[in-house]
Amino acid sequence: MSSFQDGFRAVVVGASGGIGAAVLQLLRAAPRCGEAIGVSRRSSPRLDLEHEDTIADAARQIAEGGPVHLIFDATGVLHSAALKPEKALSAFDPAAAAQAFAVNATGPLLVLKHFHTLMPRDERSVFASISARVGSISDNHLGGWYSYRASKAALNMLLKTAAIEIARKRPQALCLALHPGTVNTRLSQPFASGRDLFTPEESAAKMLSVIDTAAPGHSGRFLAYDGEEIGW
Ligand SMILES: NC(=O)c1ccc[n+]([C@@H]2O[C@H](COP(=O)([O-])OP(=O)(O)OC[C@H]3O[C@@H](n4cnc5c(N)ncnc54)[C@H](OP(=O)(O)O)[C@@H]3O)[C@@H](O)[C@H]2O)c1
Repeated sequence: MSSFQDGFRAVVVGASGGIGAAVLQLLRAAPRCGEAIGVSRRSSPRLDLEHEDTIADAARQIAEGGPVHLIFDATGVLHSAALKPEKALSAFDPAAAAQAFAVNATGPLLVLKHFHTLMPRDERSVFASISARVGSISDNHLGGWYSYRASKAALNMLLKTAAIEIARKRPQALCLALHPGTVNTRLSQPFASGRDLFTPEESAAKMLSVIDTAAPGHSGRFLAYDGEEIGW
């Protein structure tokens, strides 16, 4: 992570997930990284995207240690007890869609709301949130998965909008939406049989490399694990 200053601080949100745990492990091994903090619904401080007070509390506690140069949001939901990726319009359930939006769209924006003030004003910093290629409207050729697709498209818009605001006071800060590839985790497990999968470590290494090479002009963009820009 040579683009960040020596001793930089990083926070991984969703460190209990497949990709989040791998990102945290790589950051902890990165020579220039002074501190990498993992937060999740099981950590202390605890962070639950569906409870804004926990996000504000975690940001307050982490701010006591100084500025944060990299905030990597690896949270997300595709399926849960209530949420099943819809194959047809008839399966669309507004309550399940609301849960997808709370975790995949407004949750990450709440993280940015409470953590962006921890990003330094005069040093390079990055807020990266994992989106998904299926959130691309222009790339949607298959249909289905209404709630997940729409919540990731909403996440992309929220990040793009925040990137514009944040650049006014923090010209060296970047906001990125990332696509991790198809990765062998709990989230992809029911849908990935027969597909070539990245390990979480492979995907994490590729995304950290994209972050490391991203220039200020990349802020507000949607980038895949190989650095390719994905259309909205
Ligand atoms: N795997 C893939 O192929 C793939 C492809 C495209 C995009 N993505 C995206 O990559 C990201 C990471 O997914 P993954 O594959 O690593 O899945 P994962 O192993 O299921 O991890 C998901 C993470 O999100 C956290 N999370 C869910 N709801 C939360 C909430 N209310 N508050 C706080 N944290 C919450 C989980 O925490 P708990 O441990 O507490 O549940 C977990 O840390 C997601 O945004 C996903 O959409 C994955």
